[in-house]
Amino acid sequence: MNIATKMKVDWNRRAKHHAQYWIASEDFQDDDKFAQSGHYSAQALLAAISPYYDPTWTALDIGCGIGRMLKPLAPHFRHLVGIDVSGEMIEKSQKWLKGLENVETMETSGVDLSPFPPEHFNLVYSYVAFQHMPRQVFRRYLEESNRVLKFQGYLAFQIPIGLHQDAPIEDTIGVRRYQKNEVIDQLQQHGFQVIEERSSESIPYSDNVHTGKAPFFMAKKIQASQQHKQTNWVDTECGKVFSLLDTRMWLWFAEQCLQEGRQEEALRTYKSLLEHDPLSLDKWYQIVEGLIEKGKTEEAQATIAKLKTAISTYEKLNALLKAPK
Ligand SMILES: C[S@@+](CC[C@H](N)C(=O)[O-])C[C@H]1O[C@@H](n2cnc3c(N)ncnc32)[C@H](O)[C@@H]1O
Repeated sequence: MNIATKMKVDWNRRAKHHAQYWIASEDFQDDDKFAQSGHYSAQALLAAISPYYDPTWTALDIGCGIGRMLKPLAPHFRHLVGIDVSGEMIEKSQKWLKGLENVETMETSGVDLSPFPPEHFNLVYSYVAFQHMPRQVFRRYLEESNRVLKFQGYLAFQIPIGLHQDAPIEDTIGVRRYQKNEVIDQLQQHGFQVIEERSSESIPYSDNVHTGKAPFFMAKKIQASQQHKQTNWVDTECGKVFSLLDTRMWLWFAEQCLQEGRQEEALRTYKSLLEHDPLSLDKWYQIVEGLIEKGKTEEAQATIAKLKTAISTYEKLNALLKAPK
């Protein structure tokens, strides 16, 4: 399986499980909360582009999910297009965006913007999506954004900034953190002029203090991308890799179900996790061991506390999985 397929398989599995949870893990509990988080993010984007913005613009949302931001942004643009690697997300977006005539969404390859001609959009934006993508994919999207943007069109996106943090290419959700200069260099190499970098205080993702705020870049296309296409990584075979964040998120979800008395849903969640990653809970043990070895006792204790509920069902589930159908 290559990385494009892996991103599809993984995000489809997440979207099938609970799209709103995997999009906005702190604001998924009901439609109103989820919609409110979209409203916050949309307002933040509008505030950032306001000095340059024109309501006749056509814009593209990369990694749109079910259209959390497309919905509140619809009245502000002539035409909006959302693309996502997950067909499941796109299917769900049809319902979430029903009745919005100037918005369309489509499933794409996950590694390019091939459905669109050059010089087509006035604005390309992306929110809590680039951070989950392998660096190669992020760079490819910069190159492709340059291609599909009109001359002097704008690119606006959120990305975690700080000390370099990476994840194996196969990890389709692990957060990648960038150094500020790395992003600026990449933008310049891809024909953009950086016009604004907002600090981590400026862009709320939701009203949830924990989810917090995301550093935000705005850039303007001033010339064609100077980077040559390097796409040999697209066909690299993906190895089996354990994604800590993926496993954590399945466990968090199950834990919340247990806390709210939804035992059956919790069990279904553990079962899904074990089906796609049978070793995940064992790996979890290894993480606790590692934390203890590093002297991070409190973190290890907190992790064990989380695990407790999981372990109580683990044996039962393992037996269930092994039992002949
Ligand atoms: C955390 S969600 C955010 C969704 C949306 N941007 C929002 O703010 O509501 C990340 C989204 O990125 C999509 N995604 C992940 N990798 C992608 C890729 N390579 N190309 C396009 N979409 C991708 C996922 O399917 C998912 O819908």
